[in-house]
Amino acid sequence: MMIIFIALISLVLAVLAVRGILLYRRFLELNEFVEGLAKGGEGLGRRYYLKGKRGFSKVLYNLSVLAANLQEQNRENEACKNRLSVLLKHIPDGIALIDSRGRIRSLNPALENLLYLRSHAISGKGLAESVNVTGLGELLSRARVSNTESKETLAFNSKFLEVTATPFADVETSQYAGQVVLFRDVTADRRIDEIRKDFVANVSHELKTPVTAIKGYVDTLLEGAMDDREDLSRFLNVINFQVGRMEQIIKDLIELSKIEFGAMTIEKKNVVLSDMVGKVIALYEEKAKAKGIFLRPDISEDCPSVQADPGVFTHILSNLLDNAVKYTDSGGVVVRAREGENYSCVLVVQDTGIGVPKKFVPRLGERFFRVDPSRSRELGGTGLGLAIVKHLVMAMGWKMHIDSDPGKGTSVRIYIN
Ligand SMILES: Nc1ncnc2c1ncn2[C@@H]1O[C@H](COP(=O)(O)OP(=O)(O)O)[C@@H](O)[C@H]1O
Ligand SMILES: [Mg+2]
Repeated sequence: MMIIFIALISLVLAVLAVRGILLYRRFLELNEFVEGLAKGGEGLGRRYYLKGKRGFSKVLYNLSVLAANLQEQNRENEACKNRLSVLLKHIPDGIALIDSRGRIRSLNPALENLLYLRSHAISGKGLAESVNVTGLGELLSRARVSNTESKETLAFNSKFLEVTATPFADVETSQYAGQVVLFRDVTADRRIDEIRKDFVANVSHELKTPVTAIKGYVDTLLEGAMDDREDLSRFLNVINFQVGRMEQIIKDLIELSKIEFGAMTIEKKNVVLSDMVGKVIALYEEKAKAKGIFLRPDISEDCPSVQADPGVFTHILSNLLDNAVKYTDSGGVVVRAREGENYSCVLVVQDTGIGVPKKFVPRLGERFFRVDPSRSRELGGTGLGLAIVKHLVMAMGWKMHIDSDPGKGTSVRIYIN
């Protein structure tokens, strides 16, 4: 009896010991699992789905569900962060986030490029102090004090930046927490605006000159000069010349706007260069002869023909020859064509004329730009010829390059593909 009792006790103790050991092992597993959760990362990926819904199994099951939820939330946070960083990275405008003390908390690559900054070098520093944008400090203070969006166009080096500062509040305390500052490069818009204003002023001026002259001659005629047949004829000729100038300016302007609005169709076909150049040279032969200068073609065998719209090509060549003959008083003009390295043909209109001072060469092709406006006007020029050529060359998909040496001559190269 005693033996049976001892055996039973031993059995119970043995069972308890085994359960204790099992329990301890479970406890260690649980501890390891919870440690994994606490560390985050891969630890959140572990799962415990044990049979039974009680005791440790239940705790482990609930912890697994918690881990799965946390992992999902982490993924969502990560995706959100990525989306935000992609947005900031690819947005073309510069953006900076500053805190309530004006210190940089974050900025995007566009702003780094725009203001030549390196974010790691200025992170945590004051935005206004870190960049050389005149008036930025005042703009940020104004936005801060008024607690409303403030916008202004500020100068930075040779650029113009439209800067918008928008204050924001802390979500919990509703206290001022900083500003989002947006920088947009509006230099090109400004430039276009200036070009437009210049253009309107130039057109008015160019048209006013002949109109004033016409008015003067008409007044003189009406005051009695028309009774003298010689005066009448002389003045009418002058009026005719001025009307011709106005007509040419208007024609050129209409042409430019047609090209710019894309209202011009280009139809390329095979054009034999010697024919085309010969035809245009013939238009200016008489004028060249009268000035005592030569005018000749020099078309190489290696590029006999090109793909071009014949009307547009004629127009380009005529304008270039007109200038070459007009601005050359001795020597002459050659129209040369050679095969180019990366082009089917390079066409050069080269003269031995007065040339253009180096500092003005980049301005050739600007509307109404003339080295000597009165000389150009006297010679019947409008100052729009090269602007038209520049646009036509572009419309053909070609390129143009002008070289000039004052006193030696000018060469205009057209790269035909
Ligand atoms: N071949 C050239 N030689 C010297 N100057 C030139 C030549 N071509 C153009 N230019 C300069 O460029 C200006 C602009 O040319 P363009 O637009 O054709 O105007 P325009 O011929 O009506 O004066 C001219 O007024 C002249 O000063
Ligand atoms: Mg011209």
